[in-house]
Amino acid sequence: MSDDHDHHDGKDDHELRVSKIRDGTVIDHVRGGQALNVLAILGIDGNEGEEVSIGMNVPSDRFARKDIVKVEGRELSQDEVDVLSLIAPDATINIVREYEVIEKHRVERPPAVDGVLTCPNPACISTGDEPVTSRFEVLEEGVRCSYCGTIVRDEIASLIET
Ligand code: CTP
Ligand code: ZN
Repeated sequence: MSDDHDHHDGKDDHELRVSKIRDGTVIDHVRGGQALNVLAILGIDGNEGEEVSIGMNVPSDRFARKDIVKVEGRELSQDEVDVLSLIAPDATINIVREYEVIEKHRVERPPAVDGVLTCPNPACISTGDEPVTSRFEVLEEGVRCSYCGTIVRDEIASLIET
């Protein structure tokens, strides 16, 4: 990696940057303030010994500030990427092998997500005793439960099924 590349994560040589990873996934261009929600979506709580680096509110070319999450030794499932797209619609997923980015793609907002969010409405049939797979339609801003119509905008991360 050239020195030139290093300048992307921080703006000058006096700044401490988040180290490069060897093998794993870099979730870049996450909306400032959403890094901890990204960890929640990935089920990372530090207890499994996961090797994770986080940058919060770091300077970015594209936005004023961004968060960045680097997970060593892990690739993401499509379900995880789908939910990530809800809280980090501009995120880039970079797959790293032997220090090189071998694959890079933007997250895409799916039309709906099934079985990954729990409806906050206790009267919703999707949260009743009969097992029903949750389903949320993805809106411009937020998500809507397909069963009861409840709309959630800001607290999507708190609906993630664990
Ligand atoms: N990265 C990393 N470890 C590596 C390689 C890359 O942590 N071994 C990180 C870089 O620091 C950067 C992201 O992965 O935050 C994407 O790397 P790269 O494509 O080289 O950077 P950019 O060209 O700046 O990416 P973009 O155009 O998506 O902003
Ligand atoms: Zn519902």
